[in-house]
Parts: sequence; C-alpha cells; structure tokens
Amino acid sequence: MVATDFDQSAGAQVVADLTKQGHKAMFLTQDVTSETRWMEVASEIEHRYGRLNVLVSNAGIALDVSIVDMSLVDWRRQIAVNLDGVFLSVKYSLPLMRIRRGGGSIILMSSIAGLSGVKRLAGYCATKGGIRLFAKAVALECASEGIRVNSVHPGTIVTPIPKKLYGAVADPIELGKREPLGRAGQPMEVAQGVLYLASDASSYVTGTELAIDGGRCAGPYSRKTDARVAATGSSNATRDIELQSEGVSSGLGTADPCEHF
Ligand SMILES: NC(=O)c1ccc[n+]([C@@H]2O[C@H](COP(=O)([O-])OP(=O)(O)OC[C@H]3O[C@@H](n4cnc5c(N)ncnc54)[C@H](O)[C@@H]3O)[C@@H](O)[C@H]2O)c1
Repeated sequence: MVATDFDQSAGAQVVADLTKQGHKAMFLTQDVTSETRWMEVASEIEHRYGRLNVLVSNAGIALDVSIVDMSLVDWRRQIAVNLDGVFLSVKYSLPLMRIRRGGGSIILMSSIAGLSGVKRLAGYCATKGGIRLFAKAVALECASEGIRVNSVHPGTIVTPIPKKLYGAVADPIELGKREPLGRAGQPMEVAQGVLYLASDASSYVTGTELAIDGGRCAGPYSRKTDARVAATGSSNATRDIELQSEGVSSGLGTADPCEHF
C-alpha cells in the first residue's frame, strides 16, 4: 500500500501504524494538484511494485463561504484539490493498472454534497458532483478492461473536515444526532465501504455511487427523533426530541450545520 498526502507527519504516522500491524506500506509526500508530482509518484510505484491494483482518490478540502464572497483564487483552489487532483490521480494510475491486464478498482471520494446541494458549499458541491459523473464516464471508458470505477458519498463523519467547517460549536458528533441513524459515522465505516469496492466482493459493481451517510440521502427526514428516556423512572418510554433546540446551531450566519456534506 502506498499512501500519499502533503501532510508528511500524518502520512508517515498512518504508514507506521500499518507497518506495526504487519502490513506492507510506504508513504510519499504529494500535493495532488501537481501533475509533475503525479508523474513521479506513478513512476516510483511502477519501479517498486511494477503495477497498481487499486486507487483510492481521497484528498479533499471544503471551503465554507457564500458564493458572492468566494474569491476566484479560493474557487480555483477548491477545484484544484478536489477535481484536478482526482483527474490526475486517474490519468496517472490507469496506465499502471493496464500493465497488469487483470483489471483493477478505482474509488473516488465524493460526498453527499455530490448528490444534493448544500448552501455555502457551492464550490465543494461543484467538485463532488463533478467527481460523481467523472467516475461514471471513466467507468464506461475502462469497463472492457475489467477496471471498475465507483464513487463513495460519505455523510457526517467524525474527521477533521466537519470540525474545520463548523468548529466546536457544532461538532460532527452533535450534527450526527440529526441523521436517520441518530449518530455520525466513523472513518472506519467509510473505509469498510472502500474495502468492499476495492475487493472482488464488488466484482460486478462499476459506475455506481455508494452513499455511506446514516440514511441521509434516503429521503426527506424529520429532525425529530425518538430517543429512549433514561433514568426518569419511565425507562423504555419514547419521546420526541427536537434536536434543533439542543444548542447545535452553527454560529455561521445563514449556514445550517445540518445541511453540510
Ligand atoms: N468527514 C466528512 O464528514 C466527509 C463527508 C463527505 C466527504 N468527505 C470527503 O472525504 C475525504 C477525506 O476527508 P476527511 O474528512 O478525512 O478530511 P481530512 O481533512 O482529515 O482529510 C483530507 C486529507 O487530504 C489531504 N490533502 C488536502 N489537500 C491536499 C493536497 N493538495 N495534496 C495532498 N493531500 C491533500 C489533507 O492533508 C488530509 O490528510 C475528502 O475528499 C472529503 O471531501 C468527508
């Protein structure tokens, strides 16, 4: 497994953890927006391993800003990381998969913001929606070679991105309480979906989108939820809780923290 990131210490830590567990892993520093670096990374992988079986294109940023306040510089940065990065990852991985002639799996990290709009995240939505259809187009282009291409659409997951967006005022754990399953997802729950798409368990799955979102995209959902009333003398009773009244508003002007990616 080859992990890349421009955050060298975090990437090195991931590889150290995997190595400790007995897996073969290496880390390369990479800015996914650099075409030159993609060429170098691809050639390093070919030199060391001779081929590539699976690509997971995961790097992404989310800029929380209203569209009129978004500068062209920020728009381009959003597009560069989330879309240029994904395009380059596929462009330079496909030749390595073709060496093997035995197929392969490409997994592109989108978001539920690639399935429906989110206010103040127009740039992010443009990239994640773009990834969704890019995956389908490349799936058709590669199908005859047995290379499968799918997109993954996480909902509220407990990682730094939602924290960076909404801060401590409405952290992902609080936001998750509004989801149909009543909680935020864990990174491992997304990883399990990626593992499925990477493995032969999904051998007949290509050009599709896998939402891992606690039911968010299943349909309109009331923000009220049933909860067990604990320690009130009426155990197992149910009551409606209006989570919006529980102090999870974002403090971000018009942004609704419940409507993020
Ligand atoms: N956390 C969520 O709730 C959530 C929901 C939907 C989709 N996603 C998507 O999941 C993916 C992972 O996000 P995360 O939540 O783990 O956030 P994260 O910030 O922990 O991870 C993003 C990673 O991308 C790296 N990165 C950013 N710009 C880069 C660049 N130019 N070159 C190389 N690496 C770069 C960062 O260093 C970081 O390690 C993203 O694509 C994100 O859009 C996350």
